[in-house]
Amino acid sequence: SAAVKGGFDSFMDKEIHDQPKAVADTLLGRTDEKGALVLDELRIPETVLRSIDKIIVIACGTAAYSGHVAKYAIEHWCRIPVEVELAHEFRYRDPILTPRTLVVAISQSGETMDTLMAVRHAREQGAYVLAIVNTHGSTIPRESDAVLYTHAGPEVAVASTKAFLAQITACYLLGLYLAQLRGTKFPDELRETLRELQELPPKIQQVLDGEGYVREVAQAMKDEPSFLFLGRHVGYPVALEGALKLKEIAYIHAEGFAAGELKHGPIALIEEGQPVFVVVPSPRGRDQLHSKIVSNIQEVRARGARTLVIAEEGDEAVVPYADIIFRVPQTATLMSPLVAVVPLQIFASELAKAKGLDVDQPRNLAKSVTVE
Ligand code: G6P
Repeated sequence: SAAVKGGFDSFMDKEIHDQPKAVADTLLGRTDEKGALVLDELRIPETVLRSIDKIIVIACGTAAYSGHVAKYAIEHWCRIPVEVELAHEFRYRDPILTPRTLVVAISQSGETMDTLMAVRHAREQGAYVLAIVNTHGSTIPRESDAVLYTHAGPEVAVASTKAFLAQITACYLLGLYLAQLRGTKFPDELRETLRELQELPPKIQQVLDGEGYVREVAQAMKDEPSFLFLGRHVGYPVALEGALKLKEIAYIHAEGFAAGELKHGPIALIEEGQPVFVVVPSPRGRDQLHSKIVSNIQEVRARGARTLVIAEEGDEAVVPYADIIFRVPQTATLMSPLVAVVPLQIFASELAKAKGLDVDQPRNLAKSVTVE
């Protein structure tokens, strides 16, 4: 009923709008009065956390993309190599695990069988397993060495949205905590990064406030047969997640690519009128990410693509090459996925609704897949 959906058309829409709170709640109570991170709940001895030499993130679906985002941040902050692997692939190869490996299992439900089997396998091999899970009392945290809960609240729609943002937030807390413990970042840098994280909820709200325009564009594109999504760095997993959302609920062929990979194959797909989403990083970053992706937009545009660009407010460099621009507030590069993914979620939901589909219960999918 409309009441449980908080007045929204679907649980997915409600959950998209819950996102500022999901991020704020996941951050809540995890710092002391001096602004230092306290993750007492981790229960993994500090000596172990100081000695780990590798992190392997295992998860499925959207949760795996959150791990993919986290890899960029954790490696940057902690100088620990991070691998991200789909749980079902990890389980059936012969992964190298030692007591110095920290395995991070990410799951909204805590019940995904593929992820659970991978957790069991990792523990049997002597690795420490930390679960990042949204559902209290579920199986994965029970079978792990420790758990860091995301506080997104119950997620009902099959397509995951607020859990994704909460998962990235929790992974970032873990990364900052490890950096604090291992001294790989100065305390003032840590505080600054934490502050950037804490400033996200109102920025996410700002994106939600602009949803009317995303809705209009989605409705106008409801008969498109395929969409491509490009991103670089943390924008790459955002592109993958944007494509997944469209497949899941709108049944449209969609594929995400690393923008740098375009010239190695995918650019052959571009023909007149092909819609291409491009997730553009901040022009204020010190790296060349931004100018590289502006060239990618030009390249696809020159071959006839219609470009839908997610770009920061104030980024004028994209204007000449964008057919459509969805603006997001300015953030530090590592924080950008938490705002950039939101228009893509809204786009998928609005497009699915325009096609008359059941957004919350897409065909062939289950919220929690409890078989291998
Ligand atoms: C299913 C859902 C996805 C979800 C994935 C992982 O496939 O349809 O939305 O991302 O499982 O679920 P988990 O509960 O482990 O995060």
